[in-house]
Amino acid sequence: MATVPLPLTTVDLRPPPYALDALEPHMSKQTLEYHWGKHHRSYVDNLKKQIEGTELATKSLEEIVKVSYNNGQPTAAFNNAGQAWNHEFFWLSMSPDGGKAPEGELLGLLKRDFGSYDQFVTQFKQAGATQFGSGWAWLTIQDGKLTVQNSPNAINPLVFGHTPLLVADVWEHAYYLDYQNRRPDYLTTFMNELVSWDAVAKRLQAALSES
Ligand SMILES: [Fe+2]
Repeated sequence: MATVPLPLTTVDLRPPPYALDALEPHMSKQTLEYHWGKHHRSYVDNLKKQIEGTELATKSLEEIVKVSYNNGQPTAAFNNAGQAWNHEFFWLSMSPDGGKAPEGELLGLLKRDFGSYDQFVTQFKQAGATQFGSGWAWLTIQDGKLTVQNSPNAINPLVFGHTPLLVADVWEHAYYLDYQNRRPDYLTTFMNELVSWDAVAKRLQAALSES
């Protein structure tokens, strides 16, 4: 059962659905060249080596994440599997014509569960800014309710049975070339200019149709 209507299936390095310079000036081509072309590539390459010849090699990337998390006692493949999944989900969470604001049912649920769209934005940015060290900020849905959460290192909401709708990478490699140590500025730009609300709305519809 797919959690998101996106091709997070095989363990492969798929390019973002836009050119590496398409997010400029908000996220530079240089950042994408390093972040997708080197960091993400390493996670995928290392995971392939780790699972080669094991029973994990026949599973989808999402299944590998869940199995290797091993109920909180992660096996060796978990960090690379989580990072491979998280990065693909991150690229697909952004768009060159992103930002603006959500609409329709998604906007209605954000207002219902956070009080207002602005309060959701504040909570999401706060989750990213306060994640100590490396990690991720997420919008998820569980039991029909939208929730903001953050996670360290390679952890993602899938391992807790939650459905991710949106993610911001807050590892330093995501923003240091463009924003240096100014993580809050990066998160503000992510929300104002980069979020693909179209992708989030499609993930929401998929999650609601499965529940
Ligand atoms: Fe990253």
